[in-house]
Amino acid sequence: MNLPPGPAATPLRQAIEFGRDPYGYLERSASEHGPIFTLRLPGDPPRVVVCEPAEIRRIFAMKADEIRACPDGIPVNLGKHTLLLLDGEAHRRDRQLLTPPLHGDRLRSYAQTMHDVTVQTLAALPRDTPIDLHRALQDITLEVILRCVFGVRDDAERDRLARPLVAWLDGTFVPTAFFAGMVLGWGRVRDGLDRAAARAAEPPHGALARLLAPVRRRLPWNRVGAAKAEVMALLRTDLQRCRADGIGDRVDILATLAQARYDDGTPIAIDHAIDELVTMLVGGHETTANTLAWTLAHVLPNAEVLARLHAELREHFGDGAVDPARCQQLRYLDACLDEAMRLTPIAPAVPRLLARDHQLGAWTLPAGTILFPCTYVTHRRADLWPEPTAFRPERFLDGKVSTDRYFPFGGGRRTCIGMTFARFEMRIVLASLLAHAELRAVERALPPARMRGLTIAPAHLRAQRSA
Ligand code: HEM
Repeated sequence: MNLPPGPAATPLRQAIEFGRDPYGYLERSASEHGPIFTLRLPGDPPRVVVCEPAEIRRIFAMKADEIRACPDGIPVNLGKHTLLLLDGEAHRRDRQLLTPPLHGDRLRSYAQTMHDVTVQTLAALPRDTPIDLHRALQDITLEVILRCVFGVRDDAERDRLARPLVAWLDGTFVPTAFFAGMVLGWGRVRDGLDRAAARAAEPPHGALARLLAPVRRRLPWNRVGAAKAEVMALLRTDLQRCRADGIGDRVDILATLAQARYDDGTPIAIDHAIDELVTMLVGGHETTANTLAWTLAHVLPNAEVLARLHAELREHFGDGAVDPARCQQLRYLDACLDEAMRLTPIAPAVPRLLARDHQLGAWTLPAGTILFPCTYVTHRRADLWPEPTAFRPERFLDGKVSTDRYFPFGGGRRTCIGMTFARFEMRIVLASLLAHAELRAVERALPPARMRGLTIAPAHLRAQRSA
């Protein structure tokens, strides 16, 4: 058994370099060691980074018993039923159950909400002063999840759920959690947060514990743990209510899941449904906000691209409001999203844990190794993409590109289950933003990349609204 060569630095040094400059570190390592190389991070199995289409095709075609879900890289415990960690038949069954609410008529019924959330968020932003556009995009994608996934219908319900949810997410998906995960091991970080959540849910035992309770409640990890416990409790209550009283005219994913049944007629257990709902939140919120942020970071300073986007919007909607039901026809806007995901994919690589030994070119990789098909480097290979570093959306106008060279949503049996939902939402949000506000870039250069929990985001994105 042998592994491809890779950086010689210690695992801790590699983690620091990767955390500091994830894109740059992958690019430098590939140019030094070639398209297949090994990264070693503390506490993790070795990661074999693969930027070779023929091998990526083989990896995405692997059978269910050849790979296992890979928990490394997730700083938060999403429960033992989360799709991200299920394998084999359990994974297939849950994908089948979760797919319908994220597609078809159900998805189309969310279009107006996605548009309205964008326009309302925009209306609350100040004019003629630089705004934090990334924060606004996070607000939009969170609100979409609150309404379309969790079924929040009014301000009181919204505030009750949003407050602990934001405290939990903001406290968890921070660069320090990512560093802690890489240095101490992801399991330790997840377990530490869970213990804090359990402590937060229990009344203090004994006189000393009661005396120290106010201080302990203020400790950052206990606050984050308490917020997580509160979110879980609210979701549980709503799921139980949907089961007991029916869902009326609710079309959100929580309500749908409360009523859903597997092939054999059994309903999904409440604990299990909570895990999957939280997985959709974590899988769908930052990912979509960061992808939109990267797209605007590419588009706003580019006068030519921006003019073409506005021309397309005028062609479809005249000078009137955007019709969210028709945003899916905006081909150039779609190509801009594709091109942004090519150059700055929010997931720099997609992990696969080997369940068996695997032959990769000249190397026999032992079971337990992580295969790491790498979007960032593959998406920029000069032999696959003419002018690889240029932002040229036109390259996506001619049709589909195969997933062995372009895979911002991963590939094979673990392809992102929210891909259609995310694409649908991003088209509506981007079209509504561009049509309803004259946004101008504050900085011309592309912002540096920053690791934010699971994904890569622009370090900052500021814009000015002039209309
Ligand atoms: C632009 C937005 C998004 C991007 C770029 C993205 C990207 C990804 C990637 C790269 C993976 C790993 C795929 C693999 O291992 O092959 C993934 C998995 C996943 N995503 Fe997304 N995602 C996005 C939005 C969403 C949304 C909106 C949801 C839910 C509503 C979602 C839910 C999930 C889930 C549950 C998985 C795990 C699938 C499985 O293991 O079977 N994602 N996503």
